Formats: sequence, structure tokens, C-alpha cells
Amino acid sequence: MTLSPQLTNGEQTPRYWYFSTARGSVPAFKSELKQRLPQLRPSYSSGGFLTYKQDGAAVSSAVMRKLIFAGTCVEAMGKLDGGNPKSFWEMAVPVLQRELEPQRRFCLHVWSPDLGGCGEPALTPEVRRLFHEISAEVPAALAERLEPTPEAREGQLCLDVIVTADGTWWLGRHRADSLHRRFPGGLFPLTPAPDAASRAWLKFEEGLWWSGFPIGIGSRCADIGAAPGGGSQALLSRGAEVLGVDPAEMTPSVLRSPNFRHLRGKISALRRSEFLKTRWIIADMNVAPSYTLDALEEIVLRPKMAVRGLLFTMKLFSLAMAADIPAYIRRIKSWGFNQVRVRQLTFNHQEVMAAALKKPFRR
Ligand SMILES: C[S@@+](CC[C@H](N)C(=O)[O-])C[C@H]1O[C@@H](n2cnc3c(N)ncnc32)[C@H](O)[C@@H]1O
Repeated sequence: MTLSPQLTNGEQTPRYWYFSTARGSVPAFKSELKQRLPQLRPSYSSGGFLTYKQDGAAVSSAVMRKLIFAGTCVEAMGKLDGGNPKSFWEMAVPVLQRELEPQRRFCLHVWSPDLGGCGEPALTPEVRRLFHEISAEVPAALAERLEPTPEAREGQLCLDVIVTADGTWWLGRHRADSLHRRFPGGLFPLTPAPDAASRAWLKFEEGLWWSGFPIGIGSRCADIGAAPGGGSQALLSRGAEVLGVDPAEMTPSVLRSPNFRHLRGKISALRRSEFLKTRWIIADMNVAPSYTLDALEEIVLRPKMAVRGLLFTMKLFSLAMAADIPAYIRRIKSWGFNQVRVRQLTFNHQEVMAAALKKPFRR
């Protein structure tokens, strides 16, 4: 399958692609791209914004979607030095005429790898201002079809205006064909809840949305490396029952929840029978991935255990560890989890999130 086949590039040959990645992950992103999409050659890049030229073979949308270190990717339409809304619409209108299906609406994604960046709110005041300025200039014939907010619906055509520090506008378009591609720059729009016990609340909220795991009222979960309790809060707010494993103290509000039980201690010291009813495990220990994987394996492979899904962080203490991710995925699959995805989420810093699911699930 090629990426959005209806997005033919008109007169612009060769094709270019624009990517964003967390600034600290640039080398990992580059080596991932070299391996997964060898037909793309590096072109201009600045910080976490990278442009690539396509040589030959079509680019698979499935491969694009599975990239671990890409925040988002956009098919290039061109660039404007010192951009302005009028010139943007002059370039965008022919693309919309060609590619926007009748009766469908489209979205405008204005973002900046320099203003936002991984882990920061995507819509900074500057980006918001530009979004409104560009929206206000939409040609009358398209005004009704431009969504008023940048959050795209599944499958919607999005026009991208990527503003880099030197004032250049890089114009592109993409289909919102995954959760992250629905948002400008692929940045998941979440601000910390006022009562969040830790920043980990952000990454587990995002991780639960991204995984699509059906965790809800009464779901039996374990949270390994639970303290101070952001991840447990994300589960509790969905109505789950949570066993929190950690030698450290939990936030009092989490401890007060009738659906939370604290198993105080290291995971290695606990009786495995504690997890007999557990169906979902989240884990977030500040240890090497091999330790986290050992701990999870030790639980999920025990007789009588029936764990359906895992959502856990793997810390990359050095970026060279990114090269081990394929071996980690193979190991997780060998436990019977047939759907395994790994991604550096918006709120993961020096780590990635893994989501592993048994589908269908049989006890
Ligand atoms: C990054 S913090 C976790 C944040 C937490 N997930 C949250 O949502 O607030 C890492 C935690 O892992 C715990 N940890 C480290 N090694 C552990 C082990 N062997 N067993 C259980 N917890 C462990 C630490 O005590 C620490 O509280």
C-alpha cells in the first residue's frame, strides 16, 4: 500500500517528505529511517525537523505509521521563505481542488518543531496566532470546508504549515491515518491534570489512548513502578482496579481510592499469586529495558496467569540502545503477545512506550 495514493504530487518531482522527531532522538530517527525506508535520502534538517527526498520506490503508509521515532510525517508541497497566508493558499488551493473529496472538510495544522517540540504543548501562542491568521484568509469557496480547530478526524486531509526558526514556512499535507497524525506536528494535545501525581500521568494517558486498550470499569490492572502514582491515576480514572507495585510511597489521593491497593516492595520480592486476576499490566521502572522485560516475563509466563495486554516504558539510557528495540519486540512476541507496537510518544523523553496485546485473548 502506498501512502495516501490520492495524494499524487502533481507537477512536483521529485517528492519530498518532512518529518518531526524529538530533538534528543535525531540519531535514532535517522538510523531507523535509513533501515526502514532506504528510498528516502536525507536533505535539509534543523533540530527535530528533517526533510527527505524520495528516490524511486513508493513509500508504504504502514511502514510510515510504525516508525518509532517519527512524531509525524508530511508529504511536501513546497516552501515559502518568509511565508504569508496569501501565498500559502495559492499553493494549497490546487492541492485541495485535486485531493479533497466532494462534501468533505479539511484541517489546517500549523506547527513548529522549534516552538513546540516533544513533550511541550503543540499549540504555543505563536502557533495559535498563525493558525488564526491563515484560517482568516481562506478563500471564500473553501471557507465552509475548513475545520475551525486543528484536531482532525480519522482519515481527514490535513494541510501542514511548518514554521522553522528562520521564518521559513514548509508546506505539506497528510491524511490523519493514525491517532498522532490527527494533531499538528503529531504532538498529542494534553496538559497536566491539576491533581496529577507525576508527569508520568501524561505519558500513560497518552499511552492508553494510543494503545486503544479497552481498559474501563472493573478492569483488573497492575502498575509496576507505580509511585508516586500518575499512571495509576490514569487507570483509576477509567474505573479500573489497580494493584500498584513500588517500594516508594504513593501519593495519598491514590492510596485513598477504594480501587487501589499498594503492594509495597520491589517486583522481584512479590508473590506471583498476587497477579492471578491481573489482565492488564502497565510498567514504568527507572531501570534498563532488559530488567523490565525480565520482570514482565516472570509474571506473564507463569502457569495460570492470564494477562491480556502490557503497556510499559523502556528507558533508553543511551540512544545506541534504540538498536536493541527489534530484539525486545521479538522477545515480547515470544510470550504470546501477537500485536506489539513501540513508539516514542509525545510525553516520553529518553524512553519509548511499548503496547503488547494478545488478540484474540483466551484465558
Ligand atoms: C519513573 S518512576 C515511576 C513513575 C510512576 N509510574 C508514576 O506514574 O508516577 C520509577 C519508579 O520505579 C520504581 N522501581 C524501580 N525499580 C523497581 C522494582 N524493581 N520494583 C518496583 N518498582 C521499582 C521506583 O521506586 C520509582 O518509583
